[in-house]
Amino acid sequence: MKKHRGKPVVPITDANIDSYSEEHTTPESDEIVHLMKSSDAQLQYIDMLSGRLVGQLLKILIQISGAKRILEIGTFTGYSAIMMAEALPEDGEVVTLEMNLKYQEIAQKHFNESEVGSKISLIKGNAQQTIDELEGKFDLVYLDGDKLRYHFYFEKVLPKLKKGGLIIADNVLWDGTVLNPEDQKAKAIADFNKFVSEDDRVEQVLLPIRDGVNVIRKL
Ligand SMILES: C[S@@+](CC[C@H](N)C(=O)[O-])C[C@H]1O[C@@H](n2cnc3c(N)ncnc32)[C@H](O)[C@@H]1O
Repeated sequence: MKKHRGKPVVPITDANIDSYSEEHTTPESDEIVHLMKSSDAQLQYIDMLSGRLVGQLLKILIQISGAKRILEIGTFTGYSAIMMAEALPEDGEVVTLEMNLKYQEIAQKHFNESEVGSKISLIKGNAQQTIDELEGKFDLVYLDGDKLRYHFYFEKVLPKLKKGGLIIADNVLWDGTVLNPEDQKAKAIADFNKFVSEDDRVEQVLLPIRDGVNVIRKL
């Protein structure tokens, strides 16, 4: 991995604990390792990739919840979409939304080459609009793009989520800046976390894994 989003990294957990946790977490498949190398070769930054801890957490949540239909907001180069598709049964589906043309092209190539690519549908365009075109219910939503609008997507996806379904929101600690939010993204994410914690339509656990993962369950 090359760099972090161009801003200082505030470690949430001890770096040695992070490394130890990664070393003792199931490694990515060969296909995902190839995707990481291919993404790294084509892009300046690939730190937007969800990474092993979050990827493997998603896989386990999919398997234990029996999720079959998944919505992802924020595809990037396809890391989490392929990880999630690997955890799905043969008739499972990941619908993933991405607006950046370059990322769409790289992700689609990865999906075309993937053994689980037939389970993945990439919807191109701004998720703020494309989300309204989606039909049917989802079992799990992975919220990982357009950080300023997590609350907007939460309201959009809640009616599309089955009772007992999960919304997994990544980067909810935003490098720890939610404690004392100063910039727009930190404020938006802190407001989102507060809103969710007070919303009686859901229950949730905010896990301090990597950059923070909020596991939210629709009641
Ligand atoms: C953190 S990255 C996603 C990483 C990906 N889930 C993974 O694990 O590799 C966020 C992505 O959301 C996309 N994005 C941001 N705002 C968006 C929007 N309004 N509509 C669609 N995609 C958006 C960005 O272009 C970026 O690729």
